[in-house]
Amino acid sequence: MDNNYWNSFSRKYTDNVLQIVERDLKEVFKKELNALANPRLKVADLGCGPGSLLKHLAPRFKKVYAVDFAEDLLKLAQTTNPFSNIEYLCHDFHTKKGFPFKADISFCVNALINPAYKKRLAMLRSVRRATKPSGKSIFIVPAYESIIYVYQAMIRVDMRYGASRTKGVKVMDRLFQKDVFSAVDAIVNIGGTPTKCFTREELAVFLSENGYKVIDIKKIEYSWEEEADNPPKWLGNPYPWDWMIVAQKVEKR
Ligand SMILES: C[S@@+](CC[C@H](N)C(=O)[O-])C[C@H]1O[C@@H](n2cnc3c(N)ncnc32)[C@H](O)[C@@H]1O
Repeated sequence: MDNNYWNSFSRKYTDNVLQIVERDLKEVFKKELNALANPRLKVADLGCGPGSLLKHLAPRFKKVYAVDFAEDLLKLAQTTNPFSNIEYLCHDFHTKKGFPFKADISFCVNALINPAYKKRLAMLRSVRRATKPSGKSIFIVPAYESIIYVYQAMIRVDMRYGASRTKGVKVMDRLFQKDVFSAVDAIVNIGGTPTKCFTREELAVFLSENGYKVIDIKKIEYSWEEEADNPPKWLGNPYPWDWMIVAQKVEKR
């Protein structure tokens, strides 16, 4: 998951990839954005990638800093978001380098997902550094509970097609072992890449121990189509989800 890995995505990104605001079935993230919208505030999209969030930020805030270390993705973001209040910056969050701005609110959407703990910690510290004292940071990360729930749902599907529950569990256990690189550290094969997922509690503790006060944690639910080809219609609520955590920067104790 280095710079080259992410740069290679600029050729593969389609309109449908990783667009959390568009995937958000119950518009939880959009409601949060609307509640925060303020033409006096400066915000940052940290790990902005191809910039799918920028068109939602630019009209709601005074200034948007779009930051990423993958130059090709930054260029793509710039081409597709012609707003005069967005400034694009190339920056590696794994370094201790400071930022030329402090955001009132920082967003970090599906970027705190490196499987290496030290890199995640460095990224979290960068997000904190880019945020004003008492400012807010909003993170969206893959939910580990959702990963397990999807395997359990697939057992239900197998049973509807006549498999015994024992057989269904066996098949899903096997798939789980193939796709989950670390069951305890929640490192999962997502799109062919080892990706850090979080339980709700791990996420809250990670932020609380690193200079944040947790304000809210919510599910961002998305459709079953994102998890399976042709999922049966009866697989409805609850849907698979990511975690969204809203936190306030506090002085470190
Ligand atoms: C999964 S993409 C998410 C992109 C965007 N936030 C979205 O939701 O569409 C993760 C992004 O984080 C960026 N990223 C990962 N590690 C980074 C680092 N150390 N410094 C800067 N950006 C990084 C990648 O280049 C990539 O654009």
